Amino acid sequence: MKICFIGTGYVGLVSGVCFSDLGNNVICVDKDKDKLSRLKNGDIPIFEPGLSELVKKNLSAGRLSFSDDLISSINKSDIIFIAVGTPTAKDGVSADLSQVFSVVQLISKKIKSHKVIVTKSTVPIGTGDKIEKILNKNKKKGLFTIVSNPEFLREGEAIKDFKYPDRVVIGANDNKVIKIFNELYRPIVNKGAAFVPCSRRAAELIKYASNAFLATKISFINEIANLCEKVNVNVDDVALGIGLDKRIGSRFLRAGPAYGGSCFPKDTKALAKVGKNLNSPLSIVNSVINFNEKRKTYIEKNIYKILQNKIKNKIICFLGVTFKANTDDLRDSSAINLISKFIKKGAKINYYEPSGTKEILDKHKNVNYFDDIYLATKKVDLIIIHTEWDEFKNLNFSKIMNNNKKVIIYDLRNLYDSKYFNNKNSITYYSIGRPVNA
Ligand code: UGA
Repeated sequence: MKICFIGTGYVGLVSGVCFSDLGNNVICVDKDKDKLSRLKNGDIPIFEPGLSELVKKNLSAGRLSFSDDLISSINKSDIIFIAVGTPTAKDGVSADLSQVFSVVQLISKKIKSHKVIVTKSTVPIGTGDKIEKILNKNKKKGLFTIVSNPEFLREGEAIKDFKYPDRVVIGANDNKVIKIFNELYRPIVNKGAAFVPCSRRAAELIKYASNAFLATKISFINEIANLCEKVNVNVDDVALGIGLDKRIGSRFLRAGPAYGGSCFPKDTKALAKVGKNLNSPLSIVNSVINFNEKRKTYIEKNIYKILQNKIKNKIICFLGVTFKANTDDLRDSSAINLISKFIKKGAKINYYEPSGTKEILDKHKNVNYFDDIYLATKKVDLIIIHTEWDEFKNLNFSKIMNNNKKVIIYDLRNLYDSKYFNNKNSITYYSIGRPVNA
């Protein structure tokens, strides 16, 4: 099929490249010419394992191309995916749809033959209806069908998630178009993904409800972890014990710091705002948002307790600063929040981050990036394992002990069995929702 993706951000680039890998002809459009020239050489501006290889493979097969010419690209394609950003608006809660609508305005003025226009961007319920109105206003009746096809890709796992999703959701108010998507996603559905045709509004809501539910699961286990700390119970035992009930499910029950990233914080807030606007308050989602905010303070206070409230001139080492492993993304990462608090209190920060140094941190004079774990953890007062990168799962503790008189670790991802530290008397190990060193 002939497909065009508008927006080569995370979603547009991964989905466009993966569709080309399934044998479709895909044009990825963006207005950022520098980015496009990098992409044309297979140079990927985002950190996503496996993506660069896939771009190069499909560029050389001639199925994938990059362009800044929106009009010619849409006129060459049958299906147009809108995958531009929908960041949080200035009010701090709603989704800012200005990029979506400006693309739609352009499309509505230029299409000459029938196009299937698909929102891949996360958009509030009813956005498809608004897009339809814009096209009708520009006298394009009969020349388009609007579809919602939300994405469920995780950063760092996006290619696998695209190729082997649990489900493909297609929201369309026209049965003929469902058949087109049946065909487009056939290779994926044949491998076992469920195909979920539904109304356009339902698809829009499925996306928000999925992210809100996952954020709820994480907040739930984080709150149980707090309770575990009070009653000397290991939260990992609880997560395992409840997760094996298939009605609950074991995934997304890893206790940790507050959830972050570009999606959960933004989408939970936008969903709560939609509920408020429609006088249908989403009290559970609201309390998840509030709990997640408070969690940042809870972790911060724990760190002060560990350091006996003496923060000034303490050297705190962060292992990992991204919001999760296998990404270079710092958006809403709890590390950024914590580091800025500690600097204000006069602490010094060392950090080691597998995805490299971070400009936003390096501008502070008391923050130092190290490209070696053991240099970063040398002569420090506290080591915080913030992100669950694989390389933190087998640290050389003898080396860390040799480099420090006393070792205190706060593991925000429970990467180690706390019993492991019982015999290592010079290490005090704190983790989430578990007794200290026990
Ligand atoms: C999330 C969803 O998982 C995707 O399905 C969705 O497509 C995407 O948002 C989006 O809307 O674009 P992502 O933000 O890449 O994907 O990251 P997740 O893997 O979901 O993690 C989000 C946050 O939750 C991270 O801070 C992570 O550390 C935290 N988390 C996740 C936990 O604390 N515990 C868990 O068990 C799982």
